[in-house]
Amino acid sequence: MSVTRNTRSVPAYVFGQGAFAELGSLVDARRPGAALFYVDSFFQNTPLLQELPARSGDAVVLVDASREPTVEDVDALAEAARAARSGGMSLCSLVGVGGGSVLDITKAVANLLTNPGKAEEYQGWDLVKNPAVHKIGVPTLSGTGAECSRTCVLTNMRRRLKLGMNSDFTLFDQLLLDPSLTRTAPRAQFLFTGMDTFMHCFESSRGAYRNTIVDVLAASAAALCREIFLGPGDMMDDDKREKMMVASYLGGMAAGNVGLVHPFSAGLSIVLHIPHGRANCHALSVLGEFYPEESALLSEILARQKVRLPKGICADLTEDQYEALYQGTIIHEKPLANALGEDFRAILTRPKVMELFRKM
Ligand SMILES: [Fe+2]
Repeated sequence: MSVTRNTRSVPAYVFGQGAFAELGSLVDARRPGAALFYVDSFFQNTPLLQELPARSGDAVVLVDASREPTVEDVDALAEAARAARSGGMSLCSLVGVGGGSVLDITKAVANLLTNPGKAEEYQGWDLVKNPAVHKIGVPTLSGTGAECSRTCVLTNMRRRLKLGMNSDFTLFDQLLLDPSLTRTAPRAQFLFTGMDTFMHCFESSRGAYRNTIVDVLAASAAALCREIFLGPGDMMDDDKREKMMVASYLGGMAAGNVGLVHPFSAGLSIVLHIPHGRANCHALSVLGEFYPEESALLSEILARQKVRLPKGICADLTEDQYEALYQGTIIHEKPLANALGEDFRAILTRPKVMELFRKM
């Protein structure tokens, strides 16, 4: 097994049912200055918005997270924050309250407030030069691992790729993990997003680039996923949602080296704008020849939790769209090589990739 890179983790977290009440004191510890809250627009007209510890001078920005965040979304939000700052607002912290998309947007904007230029200039590895603005992550959906990862995945339609700002500066400074915030999540979304953790875990443990720490984190989180989705009771019971939050956190730390699911999922998100968690499930549903056990497990989980994964999603696509799906998948060389070796193109030929998309 290889030596790990010099690995940083999120330095501080508060965890537990009702932890949201601590948000005010966490923000106040950063003052003076104004806090900027990015909140998933799902929470518009809900009590959560009133419970935010926003003071006069702070700003609350509702973010539409129904589709994957783009580099343009982040540029626009960063521009607005820069304008507020040049108008005299001094920022003490950015607070992201939402699912993976909102957390990723918060991380990306924080990087852009201390680094010049556009979001796409930082898509890649270790391109962010200056430490970001202080930021606090408050997940309201579990599974993506965005709360603890050193990346923030952004769609770049011009370059037809999904790629994050992979950097230690992208890590949150503080997390607030309150499982009660996931209580109102739609059932299908809870399952699809939660299964993202399962994908991170089995893909890392099946890959060529491994180390013992990642293996142990992945095994723990995958075991939690099985318990949540196939154990007694309902997946959205209080104790299950609490465990899902822990699984997401552990799985997020194991998510560095993914395999086949994520590249196929990225293709779907680029071409059909399918959200990440569901796109992963579409991908795994047709990857049985590579991951027989996990693909069967997905079917079992969907049946058990009575969540339907639509079929025929690529039925009416044009040849150009199929070509874009192929390109959007095969561009992810690192995870594909992790799963199939450097010669992955000999297995994932163009007709083979097209055939798999047709089956979804
Ligand atoms: Fe993922």
